[in-house]
Amino acid sequence: MRGLHIKNARLLDARGERMGELYLSDGRIGLNPAAFEQEIDAQGMVLMPALIDLHCHLRDPGLTYKEDLQSGMRAALKGGYGTLCAMANTAPVISTPALVEANHEKAQKLRLCTLIQAAAAGMELKDETPTDWAALSKATKLLSNDGQTIFSDGFMKRLLAASAEYGFLISTHCQPERRIIARDLSLLKEAGGRLHIGHISHRESLERIRAAKAEGLAFSCEVTPHHIFGFGCDYRVNPPLRERADVQALIQGIKDGVIDCLSTDHAPHSPGDKEAGMAGISNIEYALQVFLEVFYQNAIPLTVLSRMASLRPAGLLGLNKGLIEEGYDADLVLLDPDSPGTIRAGEMVSRSHNTPFDGRAVRGRILCTIVEGEVRYDARH
Ligand code: DOR
Ligand code: ZN
Repeated sequence: MRGLHIKNARLLDARGERMGELYLSDGRIGLNPAAFEQEIDAQGMVLMPALIDLHCHLRDPGLTYKEDLQSGMRAALKGGYGTLCAMANTAPVISTPALVEANHEKAQKLRLCTLIQAAAAGMELKDETPTDWAALSKATKLLSNDGQTIFSDGFMKRLLAASAEYGFLISTHCQPERRIIARDLSLLKEAGGRLHIGHISHRESLERIRAAKAEGLAFSCEVTPHHIFGFGCDYRVNPPLRERADVQALIQGIKDGVIDCLSTDHAPHSPGDKEAGMAGISNIEYALQVFLEVFYQNAIPLTVLSRMASLRPAGLLGLNKGLIEEGYDADLVLLDPDSPGTIRAGEMVSRSHNTPFDGRAVRGRILCTIVEGEVRYDARH
């Protein structure tokens, strides 16, 4: 039996923190002494559930000059992520169970991160011909036309109804943001369903979401590292980087608990594609350091970070992850949350280094990422 003992750790999750030790075996967390082959002395560092990204782009298949499953997952492990939801805007678009399963199998062989491959809601990411929602919901938990907005009210209403029937989560891309969010919330009221609003960026979107939640409507939403860290610059991402007031409003939304999740929207692009005007930022390997910096600056506890980046995404996806408790999946990240850090585009392991944040100061050092009880990234030495 293989086992890993981690001692002297500051165990921190959404429910609190305490000093302690863990025994990992068969991919699960145990709290009682058990046989082990390998030992890590955490030396008082923070051990958290590994992060779960509800929204990233791994470009596999077909756009692998930007990223592929292996390079994206290596970057993700370096950033403390154990589970990734990869969007469907690949070539071909992921629109069939066979394409979903091909990526799941490829990821399993790599033994890096756990992959949840999202499927397109519409053929070619259009809001015209639906993909086979019943069949796809057996292969994946997440449907999204991300990259493209669902403009058709009828299509969105049918998709919401199907999400209630088949149990999948819909992740939306909303541009123009305020109008589409308002439309989706009113359709949700009529049709029910499982709505997750992707990458919110504008203060008025947040107010709309706040009001809908106060009314009792059930749905979730996310923010990205760049929308709570960058503003007033013309680096191209969708939705765009906004103004200081928007960043402040989003951080208030984190403090109030109105925003559910932290997602990356990691969107690697080659230099040529960026020059040609493509939107996106490569960020998965420093996302956690941006979160640590923003949370520190605004005195938001790390338990909130863990809830938003691990527990809540796990709940939305129905995973046995996101807490450090007996029987949970042994997906963990060991980090020094206080050490100073700097984003260095030249040191990134993602295939694409497109970021406006080169040289920016952040916080924290990621020491070790463990997935399925195995150390899959180790920067301790
Ligand atoms: O900036 C973005 N890039 N936003 C998206 O929604 C899509 C993504 C991409 O695929 O490049
Ligand atoms: Zn998007």
